[in-house]
Amino acid sequence: MIAIGYDHGGFALAKEILAYLEQKGVAYKKFGPDDGRSVDYPDVAVPACRAIQSGECDLGILVCGTGIGMSLTANKMRGIRAAACSETFSAKYTRLHNNSNVLCLGGRVIGPGTAIDMVELFLNSEFEGGRHKTRVDKVCKLEESWR
Ligand code: RB5
Repeated sequence: MIAIGYDHGGFALAKEILAYLEQKGVAYKKFGPDDGRSVDYPDVAVPACRAIQSGECDLGILVCGTGIGMSLTANKMRGIRAAACSETFSAKYTRLHNNSNVLCLGGRVIGPGTAIDMVELFLNSEFEGGRHKTRVDKVCKLEESWR
């Protein structure tokens, strides 16, 4: 199950991604208003990331104007590794090397063709582990200092 969330800045692009997920038969849980009205990105990113924390969703896609507000919010949450990307190489390698579980996209930055290629790579790439696990573990360990 994929968590997909968006604000008004990401609404148009999220609609394209939702159509892609439906066409591919990928199950998703949607976080964001159906009408594209203005919504604060933390109000979307937090429940979407909670669905990942709980295990209800495996991975997330968050779309705002730049992808940055969503990624800033998501990365404040325990166990979430969010990457704001704008091209395919990073979308793939943030799974392979960073074990990212949330892809953040900018609806005002990239077009739907690139975005859908990125989503496809992100959803179909697996963490390589090994030396990358050592590094990601060091990142995750920083959460131990959180209250
Ligand atoms: C909303 O106007 C915009 O600020 C938001 O979508 C996002 O780009 C923030 O990072």
